[in-house]
Amino acid sequence: MSKQILILPGDGIGPEIVTQAVAVLEAVDKQCGLGLQLDYGLLGGAAIDEHGEPCPQVTLDKARAAEAILLGAVGGPKWDTIERSIRPERGLLKIRSELQLFGNLRPAILYPQLAAASSLKPEIVAGLDILIVRELTGGIYFGEPRGIRTLENGEREGYNTYKYSESEIRRIGHLAFDAARKRNGRVCSVDKANVLEATMLWREVMEELSKDYPDVELSHMYVDNAAMQLVLRPKQFDVIVTGNMFGDILSDAAAMLTGSIGMLPSASLDKDGRGMYEPCHGSAPDIAGQDKANPLATILSVAMMLRYTLAAPEAADLVEAAVSKVLDAGLRTGDIHSEGMQLVGTREMGEAVVAAL
Ligand code: IPM
Ligand code: MG
Repeated sequence: MSKQILILPGDGIGPEIVTQAVAVLEAVDKQCGLGLQLDYGLLGGAAIDEHGEPCPQVTLDKARAAEAILLGAVGGPKWDTIERSIRPERGLLKIRSELQLFGNLRPAILYPQLAAASSLKPEIVAGLDILIVRELTGGIYFGEPRGIRTLENGEREGYNTYKYSESEIRRIGHLAFDAARKRNGRVCSVDKANVLEATMLWREVMEELSKDYPDVELSHMYVDNAAMQLVLRPKQFDVIVTGNMFGDILSDAAAMLTGSIGMLPSASLDKDGRGMYEPCHGSAPDIAGQDKANPLATILSVAMMLRYTLAAPEAADLVEAAVSKVLDAGLRTGDIHSEGMQLVGTREMGEAVVAAL
């Protein structure tokens, strides 16, 4: 039976990087006989232009029918002034929530070839391999009530709600502990339990859960300290598990350790391992359409799709090896470029990965 893959190019640099990632996916499909069938849909600004909303029903229907989804990026200045309930980012949040993609895996791996591109000294980041497990469908991103209201004195007030139920904490915890078992057996749970009740419960539930995983070492860290430790001694971490907002922030910080956020893929999984795959970076409207964006985060997201949803680990290995080979050959987009390396555009980088396959 053929496997349906939904492609959502999105906005800004999205279409350019997705074109390259799709070429890689098609090449590896042919090589490994995966029987993939690609379909396309609209999300974000592109969907607003066509349907008047950032995540229309037709996209949701296609997403539900698909085995896996490949997403570029959403958003841009063109839609910055529209009403906030239909902004492009809301489309992304809606599809994550509707499909219950609660488990966001963001690996931060430093390719040895890119040690010079990191903002930190090579000895601090050499060999870096962290997995951030971010809760993606709860916390302050989705908590109700939320809004902007006018107080009795006429002043406006913005408010959001930070909450997590025990079952939400438990399911993301399981994902993190299971991942740690396949890695170096350590989970660091990041919270703000010295101030926020929601994360006091988070810490309690993680402690309870850890009893089921005697082979995994659990530690806790406050988020402010975690941000500091990530730039001070990043290699102390194996798996980091945290809530939606802290995970959003810490994964950007971790990305820069690896040289560029243009290198960071992600997987967003539901309870059955079906998922959406996207680069961690945004739509970069300032360089859109200029053949400058780094397609590697999206290409590496394809590798994650092959590994996590399509159960084709050998195909995932092939894609990752091809990326490594292209870096060995000295090809670099602007974001990871350093002296002596060959500066290439989005298309040339993608074509080199396909050729290396
Ligand atoms: C991310 C992005 C999104 C988020 C935005 C675009 C809504 O920053 O995937 O990290 O905050 O989750
Ligand atoms: Mg983010």
